[in-house]
Amino acid sequence: MSSATARTGQRFRSLTGRPGSKIGKKYSDGVVIAGGVEPQIAEALAAARAGLVAASDVDALRRVANEHAGKGSVLVGLKSSLGSIADIEARKATGRAINEAMQSLEALVAERLVALERAAAGHAAASEAMDLTEHLARRSRGHAHIVTQAWERLEDVFVGMGFKVAEGPEVETDFNNFTALNMPPNHPARSNFDTLFVKYGEPGSTLLRTHTSPVQIRVMQEWDLPIYAVMPGRVFRRDTPDATHMPVFHQIEGLVVDKGITFAHLAGTIEAFTKAFFGSEFTSRLRPSYFPFTEPSAEFDVRSANGKWVELGGCGMVHPNVLQAGGIDPEVYTGFAFGFGIDRMAKERHEVADLRDMYANDLRFVRQF
Ligand code: DAH
Repeated sequence: MSSATARTGQRFRSLTGRPGSKIGKKYSDGVVIAGGVEPQIAEALAAARAGLVAASDVDALRRVANEHAGKGSVLVGLKSSLGSIADIEARKATGRAINEAMQSLEALVAERLVALERAAAGHAAASEAMDLTEHLARRSRGHAHIVTQAWERLEDVFVGMGFKVAEGPEVETDFNNFTALNMPPNHPARSNFDTLFVKYGEPGSTLLRTHTSPVQIRVMQEWDLPIYAVMPGRVFRRDTPDATHMPVFHQIEGLVVDKGITFAHLAGTIEAFTKAFFGSEFTSRLRPSYFPFTEPSAEFDVRSANGKWVELGGCGMVHPNVLQAGGIDPEVYTGFAFGFGIDRMAKERHEVADLRDMYANDLRFVRQF
């Protein structure tokens, strides 16, 4: 520990080796404590006390304690030199003084240890404490896209009217997307759908569905009758994006097939839906139109309280050829169908000027809703 003692500025002076310290002579004078040793003990004790008090943490405290009361320390050195004191009484008194010094150091170490541990615990408690008055900005949970919101509300309204929800694949057969919907190969209506074909199977046999109507075929083929179904989904057309067109958009299809279904059921369903979805001040109208898969066919519009008519989608009585393609006997069953764009509904509802904004993923846009 010589380096450690050097650090504290102390110098170990052996009882025997101290220059000019004639111990034996002093004792013989009847001095109880060996001359020259007492100040050394006091000095060592004072240095030790100062070091212990200055130690700022438990590790430092142990280091200082070892330095001043451990092997190689001044006090231990003095103790091991006791034998060199000839006078028994003086030796005993010196030994006692050293022991007392050691004991008082031990007591101080114990006392400081408790204080430092308490302080450390206090620090930890303070740094780990929860401030129950602290106000943190609430973590935002985000929300569904306005098209998803419209999609889910549409499902809710139709489910409330007794419909079931069905979904079909986005990659479809030409048969389901066109032929089964009364558009055989080379039918002129096919060109109205700017179709994206997929390299799979026979060229032209597989495509990205251009509408949700092919799900009608799947439902007719797979479900038991009667059918009351809505079929929301993503559809694709080879369109250049502009304010009112996107190559990827969303539709919801409706299909009812039952005995004795008439056009009046179709008109009543559209009207009931309009009031349930938009509000009781809204009303609907049907205009004659043409679709290959319905006969007769209509477009339906919705009018708000302010009197403006907005075109929503197409509808009609399911064409007998379509029922047949779905495996249903058109002599026994009749049905109606409808289909409209979900994106357009979200656009109208939130007064979005440009459809492209809805898909640009700009948070400043998305957070408005
Ligand atoms: N599939 C048509 C389209 O995408 C919309 C449509 C019209 C669906 C009339 C129908 C319907 O079910 O009866 O333009």
